[in-house]
Amino acid sequence: MTQHSQTPRAALAQRAAQLRREINEHNYRYHVLDAPIISDAEYDALFNELKQIEAEYPELIAPDSPTQRVSGAVAEGFAKVRHPQPILSLGSAANAAGVRAWHERLARFAMQAGIADTDALNAFVVEPKIDGLTIVVTYVHGVLTQAATRGDGLVGEDITANVRTIKSVPLALRDAVAVPARLSVRGEAYMPIKDFEQMNAEAQQAGERTFANPRNFAAGSLRQLDPALTAKRPLSALFYAIVEWSGDGSAPATQWDTLEFLRAAGFPVSDLSRRLDGIEAAIAYCDSIIPQRDSLPFEIDGMVIKLNDLDLAARLGYVGKDPRGALAFKFPAREAITILRGVGVQVGRTGALSPVAQLEPVQLGGITISNATLHNYEDIARKDIRIGDRVIVKRAGDVIPYVAGPVVEARSGDEHVIEPPTTCPFCGTPVERREGEVAIYCPNPDCPGRLDRAIAHFVGRGAMDIEGLGSKIVAQLIDAGLVSDVADLYALTKEQLLTLEGFAEKKAQKLIDAIAASKQQSLERLLIGLGIRHVGSVAARALAEHYGSLDALLEARLEDLQEIEGVGPVIAQSIGEWAGRDSTRRLVEKLKRAGVDPRQQPRRNAAPAAGPFAGQTFVITGTLSRPREEMAAWIESLGGKVTDSVSRKTSYVVVGDAPGANKVSKAQQLNVPMIGEDELRRLAG
Ligand code: IVH
Repeated sequence: MTQHSQTPRAALAQRAAQLRREINEHNYRYHVLDAPIISDAEYDALFNELKQIEAEYPELIAPDSPTQRVSGAVAEGFAKVRHPQPILSLGSAANAAGVRAWHERLARFAMQAGIADTDALNAFVVEPKIDGLTIVVTYVHGVLTQAATRGDGLVGEDITANVRTIKSVPLALRDAVAVPARLSVRGEAYMPIKDFEQMNAEAQQAGERTFANPRNFAAGSLRQLDPALTAKRPLSALFYAIVEWSGDGSAPATQWDTLEFLRAAGFPVSDLSRRLDGIEAAIAYCDSIIPQRDSLPFEIDGMVIKLNDLDLAARLGYVGKDPRGALAFKFPAREAITILRGVGVQVGRTGALSPVAQLEPVQLGGITISNATLHNYEDIARKDIRIGDRVIVKRAGDVIPYVAGPVVEARSGDEHVIEPPTTCPFCGTPVERREGEVAIYCPNPDCPGRLDRAIAHFVGRGAMDIEGLGSKIVAQLIDAGLVSDVADLYALTKEQLLTLEGFAEKKAQKLIDAIAASKQQSLERLLIGLGIRHVGSVAARALAEHYGSLDALLEARLEDLQEIEGVGPVIAQSIGEWAGRDSTRRLVEKLKRAGVDPRQQPRRNAAPAAGPFAGQTFVITGTLSRPREEMAAWIESLGGKVTDSVSRKTSYVVVGDAPGANKVSKAQQLNVPMIGEDELRRLAG
């Protein structure tokens, strides 16, 4: 740090001004151009030097000093601010046809109004529609004096102290361009997705409130009464319009020049913006952004198509609050808001009791959603989701709908807290919590609530693979009292099936044959099918290869089990409990009597292969293009490991059709990347 105490005050005043300019310029290079020319350490040195001068001579502190982003004062509320002109909204279209229709209306309206400039009516600027919060920032003689929310479009709230803390918002404009005495600019404040995910993960770890999406997090951050709290939130902003220009010169005449002016003046401007001729080119550009949506650093909910000629746009006027000269091309929604009417309980195959949201039906991504997962009760408490809340519903991997969080601002006070059940709603057994797990369990292995799922799992593609036995028929069989465990399937007769609705001779015979054929399935598949807690396809294979038969496994010793590669103490313990139950012994006897007693040749473990997946651990969930064992074998042949449950050690979760909600939510919680099959193949080279 430089020593200043001997330097005359006038020289220090000059030095401070120079430092402010330099630091603001480096800020601009860093936040707007994304092209810093000094290191963080050099930047810090400049910053600290300025801080030191200001500490010695507080009267040298200028409002645009970069040291003054956080004011320190806690506000009691937000003052109201009248906007220099109404902050309008935008009409929207959901597809190309809607965009074309808008453009035709525009052309017709222009003709009727005597505007015949065809070129100008076909010259557009296309920009990303940032899913953030509108802010209006005002600069007097180039210095930031005010920042406001949109509010009702006429009057917003004064959030100057908070917006000052956003590092990409310039405190002073650059003198590279002539700025008017008074300039108001419109943009969006947002939270980058990466930062949102990280902050949410940290909040979750700390047991603090989490947010449903970056937008809500950004909104909550901007509405802090203490700007020091806002300063801790990684907010950013992008600007796209001039709301007021008064004083020398005139505002740029086109949207493209506006963006260039804003960038030159020091505002961050999206580099996804394009100048395009012809509505088809504009549509094509919008379409080309959809596949990039997930790799952008911020959320966008569409693109905005604007006439480049701003004078023309102004002459075309408005329809209600929407300017005729601009249109939002909305991308497919990935979330919807609806009311949480109630919470049901579902019992899984393993006895896990999970809450299911009962929703006011809502459309999302082309389907109607009336039920959605709520992960677990701990998650409900942390997100503070209440019955009666308006909730944000999303679709994970665009498949399973889940409740991401409440819209707290919409509460009326009539909502009520969700309590986890204390007894199983299906069999009345008191629930259990297990160390290190968030789920609550019905510990009764014979709970009638799990029977249908247990059977559906047993007959499923990854297990005994009995074709023609879907969950609907399983329910029919249970309701008719024909099966009360999986072994009963093998005692079914064609005559019995014919008593069920929807069964005729041919279908009944086919099912009987398929059931009989499943007796030939491998021990590995049978073990998967039995649904022993923690035993997935990987452990099942290891156990089958090690013990070779059901009887040998039932007699296994805990110490031996633990030694098997892919088993470990938790799975060993679970097998021990399973083998020790009378109901297990009875079921195995019954299966053997029915002719289900596969044998497998014991085999030694092969050495781990080298390959593109060496050192990586995968978890597969949902249905892929080939059976799971085949995929697992393929991954292993390339050096990877496949395990059954998601942990911090998991490198990737491979998500197929209808993935398991638990695995998906665990992956989200632990920030484990989820990839599809295509991506997996890409990784394999
Ligand atoms: S132009 C008259 N451009 O989207 C000008 N709006 O649905 C109208 N938004 O709340 C706005 N990115 O704040 C425009 N590049 C962009 C935008 C954008 C996000 C927001 C805007 C408004 C909403 C309209």
